[in-house]
Amino acid sequence: MSSSASAVSSRLPDFPWDKLEPYKATAAAHPGGIVDLSVGTPVDPVPDIIQKALAEAADSPGYPTVWGTPRLRDAISGWCERRLGARGVGHRNVLPVVGSKELVAWLPVQLGLGPGDRVAHPRLAYPTYEVGARLARAEPVGYDDPTELDPAGLKLLWLNSPSNPTGRVLSKEELTRIVAWAREHGVLVFSDECYLELGWEAEPVSVLHPQVCGGSYDGLVAVHSLSKRSNLAGYRAAFLAGDERVLGELLEVRKHGGMMTAAPTQAAVVAALGDDEHVRVQRERYAARRTALREALLKHGFRIEHSEASLYLWATRDESCWDTIGHLAGLGILAAPGDFYGPAGNRFVRVALTATDERVRAAVARLS
Ligand SMILES: Cc1ncc(COP(=O)(O)O)c(C=O)c1O
Repeated sequence: MSSSASAVSSRLPDFPWDKLEPYKATAAAHPGGIVDLSVGTPVDPVPDIIQKALAEAADSPGYPTVWGTPRLRDAISGWCERRLGARGVGHRNVLPVVGSKELVAWLPVQLGLGPGDRVAHPRLAYPTYEVGARLARAEPVGYDDPTELDPAGLKLLWLNSPSNPTGRVLSKEELTRIVAWAREHGVLVFSDECYLELGWEAEPVSVLHPQVCGGSYDGLVAVHSLSKRSNLAGYRAAFLAGDERVLGELLEVRKHGGMMTAAPTQAAVVAALGDDEHVRVQRERYAARRTALREALLKHGFRIEHSEASLYLWATRDESCWDTIGHLAGLGILAAPGDFYGPAGNRFVRVALTATDERVRAAVARLS
């Protein structure tokens, strides 16, 4: 490709999953077949009520809107009040997005950030926060405690609780302290809460909770996704809630950019947010898989850190993550190497809970 054609991709890190391919081939050669616990893509069915809502909206010849239907906005604000404990979430406080990955990747561009601006994210993190900063030519900065960052030039602070990859949860007190610091320094906070409904040994709290935000959404936006809690990764469905000035600006930019959620997906999200039962059922599936995998990994000699929430176990054998990946691949099990999430993860692997019960049983048998 000519140098101008590759000018953007050359600013980005190598797509890390390609490095896992040889290990995937080893695991796939296991006589019992591969148990793929690497990517974390949902495998259970889309709940019937959601499929039905999608199908009923199949005749959607016209353009949808970026802001979504009034029913969708009602469903989002109702859910935020019911599940997050947020108060006074009006239509101007919500914005649908086309899955949260595109939002994370393009947010710095859509906020107008560029050279000289800094975007902070947890040191161990979902790689797309860094990608987003690089797409805007802003500077990505990793942190252990965001309140220790130099606020000069810091325009955007990503929080992620529960965390991918570690499953760590920030307490209400920690969130309150971070929000106060960010407001004092005029730093916009985006809180990626896409695993909020998957707390096991901790109860994740939103930045929109009144005890964290003090009843005002100034400078705060929460990011939520239906991919994991409702098995809707294939539908591309997520939304933002919070500061109406920030969301109003993003709405304008995204209207020009044509960032519309498909109309059948919008209808499906209304059904999904109105039903808590399928989330309970899905949680139970993950809880059982988590218990089985956790015990098997511990018996096999792993140590597990954090992992009190989310869809992952953050596990180590106190060796290079690639040695662990090789060892597991020999057992026909594929995990994600911790260094995909930053150099600080290079002695851990991330084990996803997103495999069928049958595949999880196979993994447990091979680990024992
Ligand atoms: C922390 C975090 N944020 C965002 C996403 C993107 O999810 P989606 O684009 O499916 O909404 C993921 C996906 O794994 C994630 O782990």
